[in-house]
Amino acid sequence: MSETQGEPSGPDLTLGVAADSLADGQMLAGHVGDDAVLVARHGSEYFAIGATCTHYGGPLAEGLIVGDTVRCPWHHACFSLRTGEALRAPALNPLGCWPTELRDGNVFVRAKRSAARVVAMTSPASPRNMVVVGGGAAGFAAAEMLRRRAFDGSIVMLSDDAAPPVDRPNLSKDYLAGNAPEEWVPLRDEHFYSDQRIDLRLNTTVAGIDAAARTVSLGDGSNIPFDRLLLATGAEAIRLPLPGMDLPHVHTLRTLADCSAIIAQAGRSKRAVVMGASFIGLEVAASLRARGIDVHVVAPDKQPMARVLGPAMGAFVRGLHEEHGVVFHLEDSAVAIDARQVTLKSGGTIAADLVVAGVGVRPRLALAEKAGLAIDRGVRVNEYLESSAPGIYAAGDIARWPDRRSGAIRVEHWVVAQRQGQTAALNMLGGREKFDAVPFFWSQHYDVPINYVGHAESWDEIVVDGDIESRDCVVRYKQKGRVLAVASIYRDSDSLMEEAAMERELA
Ligand SMILES: Cc1cc2nc3c(=O)[nH]c(=O)nc-3n(C[C@H](O)[C@H](O)[C@H](O)COP(=O)(O)OP(=O)(O)OC[C@H]3O[C@@H](n4cnc5c(N)ncnc54)[C@H](O)[C@@H]3O)c2cc1C
Ligand code: FES
Repeated sequence: MSETQGEPSGPDLTLGVAADSLADGQMLAGHVGDDAVLVARHGSEYFAIGATCTHYGGPLAEGLIVGDTVRCPWHHACFSLRTGEALRAPALNPLGCWPTELRDGNVFVRAKRSAARVVAMTSPASPRNMVVVGGGAAGFAAAEMLRRRAFDGSIVMLSDDAAPPVDRPNLSKDYLAGNAPEEWVPLRDEHFYSDQRIDLRLNTTVAGIDAAARTVSLGDGSNIPFDRLLLATGAEAIRLPLPGMDLPHVHTLRTLADCSAIIAQAGRSKRAVVMGASFIGLEVAASLRARGIDVHVVAPDKQPMARVLGPAMGAFVRGLHEEHGVVFHLEDSAVAIDARQVTLKSGGTIAADLVVAGVGVRPRLALAEKAGLAIDRGVRVNEYLESSAPGIYAAGDIARWPDRRSGAIRVEHWVVAQRQGQTAALNMLGGREKFDAVPFFWSQHYDVPINYVGHAESWDEIVVDGDIESRDCVVRYKQKGRVLAVASIYRDSDSLMEEAAMERELA
């Protein structure tokens, strides 16, 4: 791609690319002035949009074009090539968009459009009062999508958390490690909610839902009416019934307040015990090592993460943490905690001035149960994410939905929660959007990202392409020859292509 200045046809022709240098589905990155721009071809059409993902800055030129969208290589956000809109989370902000013109075998990029075109979805018959219970991934993404689609009625968002919606994955990764400033943690600054007329009420507990009368009742006895309700109450960290769990240096991690308490304690600590060797536990272990704290991990598993990623990936993850100084106590568990140490079932003790339990979460189903919604180890929803009560939708960690590749599943993934919030919002506006995104999550351990697409609760074969130890692999989890899920390390394009192949199975 080259920059062509002073093009004869008009002052706004700023950058030219030979049209035949781009095959269908290919893209090229370059610059227009100071802007990094991606020129992409889909069929006979050429598009130009920003080249840097608006989530964490992933390089879109290393991503994948699927139809008239581009997918980010890092966490699979999906942007429209036509408008720059962030169609699928985790990115929420649009990319810049430049009209293109094909002339004399060259694609010219014209002056930047001022803003992404908004596709309005409202009609006079649209519901007027939307209530969102939950200020997390799904709740926030839903409220944001309602306004993005030009819904102009009332949105009340109720959260029993003290903090506005935060980038929860960061709480076990860069923010906990001390590598990300506090400004990165909120999903939006405080002005967003007033500017968007989202009535965000923090420290507000929803006590009940009357599905027939269409009201929610708050802890203070007041009621809020709704036309459509999204239930997105997420999950809570499991607290083990151990002597010493209530001591001030013992923590779980779900909220910003939990994270701040761990950071404060870490500042006074030299030795930590992390209970649990799955995603949250091990990300916490890595972040505490980044703070120079000795970390011991205690878990009943034979190999960390083996239940989700299989034994070979589990062994790799264990080795990676050991390289960074983490000491594992596997096939063991804590039986008691006191001010100075953790006592193990095997009889030993580990000195600890900080203890973090990352032993799993429990979906917060009490409200849904009390409201009489159908429950099946989660709130049962249909493909439109509507619960058994018409007008009440559920999304995120509480929702068990009919995944088209895997049957009814409930997962605890950030991107799934956000995308479900977005789909639920469209349906609350009267749309008929099926939730059919392929599940995706990522996890980060030191400088090693693990991406995972699909869903595999069990498998009869694991096929490794590449080399796990060299951090260059695609690991396929198969059942009767069919790929259920794929984990990868530093094989971002493969991960995107696997996701696209899984989507094609559904088409
Ligand atoms: C530290 C950490 C790191 C993570 N990292 C990753 C990762 O790297 N990748 C990944 O895929 N996933 C990750 N996850 C999981 C991911 O964050 C969750 O899957 C996601 O947040 C679920 O979104 P949600 O909207 O369902 O629930 P949440 O984000 O938990 O939001 C639930 C909201 O509901 C509110 N609420 C609950 N009950 C009530 C009530 N009765 N009244 C009012 N408000 C209520 C809560 O206060 C909260 O605001 C991580 C989770 C944690 C805790
Ligand atoms: S950086 Fe693009 S999706 Fe996260």
